[in-house]
Amino acid sequence: MNHASTLELLRARGISLGTLCLLVSLMPTAQSQTLQNTLLPAPLNIIAGNGSIAITKDFTVSLSGAHNPILEAATRRTLESLERNTGIPIGKDLQSPSPTLTIQVQDSTGTRPTLETDEDYSLSATSSKIVLRAQTIFGALHGLETIQQLVQAEDGHYVIPAVEINDSPRFPWRGFMLDVSRHFMPLPVVYRTLDAMAAVKLNVFHWHLTDDQGFRIESRRFPLLTAKGSDGLFYTQDQVRDVIAYASAHGIRVVPEFDIPGHVTSWLVGMPELGSVQRPYEISRTFGIWDGALDPTRDSTYKFLDAFIGEISSLFPDEYLHLGGDESNGADWKANPSIVAFMHAHNMKSTDDLQNYFSTRVLALVHQHHKQMVGWDEILTPGTPKDAVIQSWRGVESLAVAANRGNRGILSAPYYLDGMKTAEQMYLDDPIPDNSTLTSDQQKLILGGEVCMWAEQITAQTVDSRVWPRTAALAERFWSTRQTRDVSDMYRRLEIESIRLDGLGLTHISGPESGLRQLAGSEAAASQLALLISTLSPVSFHERYEQQKTSQLTPMGNAVDYTRPDPPLREDLRLLVDRYLHSSAPADRAAAHQQLQILFQSWIASGPALDALAPEHPKLNQLTLRRTQLTQLGQLGIQSLASIESHTPPTTTWIEAQNTLLKTAADHSELTDFVILLPLQQLVDTAGKH
Ligand code: ACM
Repeated sequence: MNHASTLELLRARGISLGTLCLLVSLMPTAQSQTLQNTLLPAPLNIIAGNGSIAITKDFTVSLSGAHNPILEAATRRTLESLERNTGIPIGKDLQSPSPTLTIQVQDSTGTRPTLETDEDYSLSATSSKIVLRAQTIFGALHGLETIQQLVQAEDGHYVIPAVEINDSPRFPWRGFMLDVSRHFMPLPVVYRTLDAMAAVKLNVFHWHLTDDQGFRIESRRFPLLTAKGSDGLFYTQDQVRDVIAYASAHGIRVVPEFDIPGHVTSWLVGMPELGSVQRPYEISRTFGIWDGALDPTRDSTYKFLDAFIGEISSLFPDEYLHLGGDESNGADWKANPSIVAFMHAHNMKSTDDLQNYFSTRVLALVHQHHKQMVGWDEILTPGTPKDAVIQSWRGVESLAVAANRGNRGILSAPYYLDGMKTAEQMYLDDPIPDNSTLTSDQQKLILGGEVCMWAEQITAQTVDSRVWPRTAALAERFWSTRQTRDVSDMYRRLEIESIRLDGLGLTHISGPESGLRQLAGSEAAASQLALLISTLSPVSFHERYEQQKTSQLTPMGNAVDYTRPDPPLREDLRLLVDRYLHSSAPADRAAAHQQLQILFQSWIASGPALDALAPEHPKLNQLTLRRTQLTQLGQLGIQSLASIESHTPPTTTWIEAQNTLLKTAADHSELTDFVILLPLQQLVDTAGKH
């Protein structure tokens, strides 16, 4: 097949070349009879056995007499997933007398997970039966997710391969934080996020419910908070209860965050009397650190907080309550003479001392309501009570400081998704780094980590593509051993997990695809645009803010919003060029050469094709420079290949021109970054060496 007809075929099928490369790179070289390990997160211990068990319509289950509605529902979900993924109808009787899958749970009384829940499980699959054992139903839920990930094809059938797995999480706190204040995230986003979290064994949903830009939950005690602070975009308490029940049924704790004493502008719109400076307040539309802050010197503030914490404590059953504490700039405290007088009277030298006083009083209230407090690392001072959990966002160091003082901690600093780092970069950052000086007892105070998704630059349509699949790689960091650090193997499994998450209803692939159709106006035009988009990622939060001055009112349906961080083509192209340059098998090398040629030709064609579409679809002009550069990069690729193949050294002028192109293309332009430049540089360098 010649290149043009291959491309037409792909286009006709709506398949992007990124996808093609993915398919080709995953094609097994031989029929395998053994375990194809696609588990993510990697289990603690796994031993492949001999043989496999076929999934047929006779697949049966026994819960060994356990009657727990959460376990029953999770088992049914697993059977439905097996059905969906194999096309084989499977009965839903859960007490079969001769089961294929037996689930044995020691204590089947669980109703919701806690920090102390035993999450271990073991799985023993032979060629005749599968036994899943766990201490608690929540361990069993993890085992059920593993069973779904074990399904593989063998000789034209779907099977579960024989395997022995003993699994246990490295950290008990494996969280994901979703900011629903800067942009409100409707319930479907929350539910599908919980689905995906359960699939990769994350167990804490940290719900950042309030900030300057929105107060997103109904308060019955203080209805003005929601009425004036939310633009009508909030969750009712009934909706919250449903979310908590759903999360519990998926083995996930819900830890709400009410960020105080700063980041409270939306609170002060309805209750300005809580503020440190009396002025009219409006919901913040722009992002940053604002002066509005609760007044820490008045008893009325604590009376309010007592009632408010009482209300949320009875709504959220988890033992932990997050009360923020970050980025409180102290400006309004210094601006109010009576607060300054209070500081003098109490011998406080700085607003940090005042915040410490506030945190201490709030913590006492939290204790009165039988909760433990989590706060961002700003709340950590020598006087911070030992049961406060410190969430580190400014660097890993504060966790070490916390642990030295006896406080437990959660690491988030390396896991900010809006930094748009690759999965690889974040994955290699460990909650207990190699150079940690903590003793082994202190290390036990590191409870785990949380991935954070701040919502300044996302909407419900784009959130999934920022969160997934990268968060799945971090789920492995939190679950698996610290030695699990093989990046290529992580990407191999991550691309498979990404498709599984797509099957669960996550929109990290379909959302951007839909966006491209809106930008380009037709399916055919969208597949041209997809070629360009597959080579780009969004610039980091800070870079985007610099270029765009993004606010809550900035429209988000633009080209940058449909680029994906760390898109699959980055790793696929790296592998493809690596095969081309280094494969010892001539046929493999030739195949890689051909795929590269097809890819580069498609880039060359895409620029003019998009130019032709742009007059009818002016939004395409958001990527004018990028499409010109992609055509040039395609030419760079074709010419490098020709030079390497013909052993004809390129001229110095050509090499200089290519290096200039690569350098210019590396600029942050049109809110995007190219993800394809390193392998292209390798091709130019190799051509230059001939
Ligand atoms: C934070 O990022 N201010 C917690």
